[in-house]
Amino acid sequence: MADSLGESILQRVEKDGKISTDVLAKLLERDHQQIVGTVKSLQALGNVIETKQQTNKYWELTPEGTQMVESGSYEALVYEAVPPEGGILQAELMKKIPNAKIGFSKGMSAGWLEVNKTAEGGPRIMRKASSIVDKVQEQLKKVHKGDIESLTDKERSELKKRKLVQEVTVNTFLVMKGSEFSTSVNKLETDLTPEMLASGTWKDRKFKDYNFDALGVMPASGHLHPLLKVRAQFRQIFLEMGFSEMPTNNYIESSFWNFDALFQPQQHPARDIQDTFFIKDPEFAHEFPMDYLERVKKVHSVGGYGSQGHKVEWRIEEAKKNILRTHTTAVSARMLYKLAQQEKFTPVKYFSIDRVFRNETLDATHLAEFHQIEGLVADYNLTLADLIGILHAFFKKLGIEKLRFKPAYNPYTEPSMEVFSYHEGLKKWVEIGNSGVFRPEMLLPMGLPEDVVVIAWGLSLERPTMIKYGIDNIRELFGPRVNLQMVYDNPICRLDK
Ligand code: PHE
Repeated sequence: MADSLGESILQRVEKDGKISTDVLAKLLERDHQQIVGTVKSLQALGNVIETKQQTNKYWELTPEGTQMVESGSYEALVYEAVPPEGGILQAELMKKIPNAKIGFSKGMSAGWLEVNKTAEGGPRIMRKASSIVDKVQEQLKKVHKGDIESLTDKERSELKKRKLVQEVTVNTFLVMKGSEFSTSVNKLETDLTPEMLASGTWKDRKFKDYNFDALGVMPASGHLHPLLKVRAQFRQIFLEMGFSEMPTNNYIESSFWNFDALFQPQQHPARDIQDTFFIKDPEFAHEFPMDYLERVKKVHSVGGYGSQGHKVEWRIEEAKKNILRTHTTAVSARMLYKLAQQEKFTPVKYFSIDRVFRNETLDATHLAEFHQIEGLVADYNLTLADLIGILHAFFKKLGIEKLRFKPAYNPYTEPSMEVFSYHEGLKKWVEIGNSGVFRPEMLLPMGLPEDVVVIAWGLSLERPTMIKYGIDNIRELFGPRVNLQMVYDNPICRLDK
């Protein structure tokens, strides 16, 4: 059954034929919005009622006007406050009642009051009229009853000017009988139940139409962080290209694998505490393949394999220092060393995507930890052209076609190239990665054959993610200030590439 308000409305429509929602609100002593809401739900029942939208303008009292209906206009109040005999000092009157100033000036112009300016103790207000009629209050009472029509235009505009009445516009509905009108209606069924089927009552019931425009409820499910989604995409690209993933499950690394194995001199500024986080406990790593370490020491300090080396002292104490890895190239070094220990070399394609740490000054684009994507190919006689070709193939899968390469420097690659892509949105070339051919000083001490060349590249995961998700401050993407709602609101999947 429709609720009782619904039925009351239907009974009114039955009686009057047509009735507007604002009239219904008054008659049924309900809020207009509540009436409109109930009318809408009656409408949803089918053709029980019909409605027509209309706008009504009417006059109502302002709070000040309502106050005057009860207690009288300010001028009447002032008049009442003036004793019939002898009057009252103006200063005293002003203190005695609120809004006395307005009341006084209105009372003066109505000819109800007069001022004795020469009285003792200051100006004195006296009654001039022996009795008054509070016309303003009478007019406001008429407005209150809905009878503003009986006021003259002048009276009405005077009340409006004094902000005692105001005109309001309301959207109302004219409610009329529909083709299936009835004063008692059954609520439409929203579910077909087993009981209805068993008892056969479904035949007599009316069912609510489907609302195909309704939005679905968000499924209660987990949501992947944008970095994880983009990581999955990069991983997919590598897998499509036949790469296999390197084990990156150690954030702590020795300086040996992070720097020395990569022919990065022990005096290199990147090995300072300003750039690298050193571990206190345990401060040092102890297990190294010692014969390899000796070869690393030699190539650094005196050279070898056709290289002069760095020609500076190399100390194992420096190599032993534990740090948070500053790049995943440390993992690549471990994997290439492992590869070199195979009896017979086999070409490999490796990738990794994981976290690295740098002692950076934090700002909108830099964090002390971020993710690196790294790829490498080890094969016989690779050239720079192979690197350029594979970078084109890799970035093409991301939808990036325009690439440029700029000569760069890395301690462990020669030649080295920064990779730039043309950003259609920013309309400029932006750096997207770093790459190069690993130096013989890195590969030969590991024991790789002389004609094996390793090409490699690296990029951050955060940068393409920020571009893709339109995030311009990295701290909104990663770290303690991430708003989880951002994770929830981003699309579950994206079809653009
Ligand atoms: N390790 C480099 C970096 O941290 C990236 C890189 C990887 C460069 C492999 C060349 C080759 O920026």
